[in-house]
Amino acid sequence: MSTDILFQPFSLKTLSLANRIVMAPMTRALAKGGIPAAAQVEYYRRRAAGGVGLILTEGTVIDRPASRNDPGIPFFHGEAALAGWEDVAKSVHAAGGKIGPQIWHTGSARSTRSDAQPDDMVESPSGLVGPGDPRGRTMTEEDIADTVAAYANAAADAKRLGFDIVELHGAHGYLIDQFFWDGTNRRTDAYGGATLTERSRLAGEAVRAVRAAVGPDFPLSLRVSQWKQQDYAARLATTPDQMTSWLLPLVEAGVDILHCSQRRFWVAEFPEIDGDAGLNFAGWAKKLTGAATISVGSVGLESDFFGAFGGQGSESASFDTLIERMERREFDLIAVGRPLISDAEWARKVSDGRLDELGGFNAADLAVLA
Ligand SMILES: Cc1cc2nc3c(=O)[nH]c(=O)nc-3n(C[C@H](O)[C@H](O)[C@H](O)COP(=O)(O)O)c2cc1C
Repeated sequence: MSTDILFQPFSLKTLSLANRIVMAPMTRALAKGGIPAAAQVEYYRRRAAGGVGLILTEGTVIDRPASRNDPGIPFFHGEAALAGWEDVAKSVHAAGGKIGPQIWHTGSARSTRSDAQPDDMVESPSGLVGPGDPRGRTMTEEDIADTVAAYANAAADAKRLGFDIVELHGAHGYLIDQFFWDGTNRRTDAYGGATLTERSRLAGEAVRAVRAAVGPDFPLSLRVSQWKQQDYAARLATTPDQMTSWLLPLVEAGVDILHCSQRRFWVAEFPEIDGDAGLNFAGWAKKLTGAATISVGSVGLESDFFGAFGGQGSESASFDTLIERMERREFDLIAVGRPLISDAEWARKVSDGRLDELGGFNAADLAVLA
């Protein structure tokens, strides 16, 4: 089957991409002192030179106390970190690529390393990291307003430094998702409530503030997921109507692209409605909101995101499945994560038809930036 569809250009507002392969945002936690340096410049440059259409960087955090839960996570604030990021963007552009930072606040999410956050500064919607699992203090309305402003400042900096797009990390059980999820948002003020629309208020304010900061033409992506790192089976929207009430207001607030995180791109989002050939998360999000969408999850891999680290998992889907879905315009772009850690040339090999040279993912490659 031809992979041509992957190599069709894509444009949205000021963004124009040579192809539809996106490097998924992947935390590497190797930025010393939170500052991207030569190693990060070279790491991202190599993926651009390897033919990736759009790079979304590892999560990089806003200017709030305890906004990162690992000391190797890069800042997206402060002169030194921003200068480092400017070098990254320049070298990606020089290699012919496009790039956007993924703007992040980890909220109360735990990390395996305990030295990054003074516990009393960790902040979250309701002082919880999961249902009945306390961590962090409950954010005041002042904290929330400052957080919204910090997202907007980061986005304005992304545009000023020459990035092509900005993405807000609203997925995987981190701060924005902690507001979405009723397991972590027990607030009784205007930032909480029984409905997903009510619990989306923080996200909506952040999106509106970012939009105001970057102007109407700069592309904004929002990453969302049903699953949480605290609970892989959690779901925010169990029906298309709920999904509409969650995502449509965010698109109306200024999101251009919904980056719909799934562990396996071929899994139907609402199988009871769709049958086996059903739309995935990105497919439904596009259909319900009209926004452009990015899909993701185990492209070219035999084990999913969690299985890969536990050494288990054997489900996979062929490239043909991806191509068929993209030809049906189920979603616009496809993100690839782990294979691009192990092989900077992954996209080039696909465009050259060298699929037999794709080697998958080796967890040992996480130890260094190469
Ligand atoms: C090492 C690693 C770090 C990750 N860090 C992030 C992150 O910072 N932000 C994010 O939204 N997703 C993150 N993810 C999830 C990936 O973006 C992606 O959704 C996931 O790996 C599934 O894609 P894949 O099967 O192609 O690897 C990370 C994944 C890995 C493997």
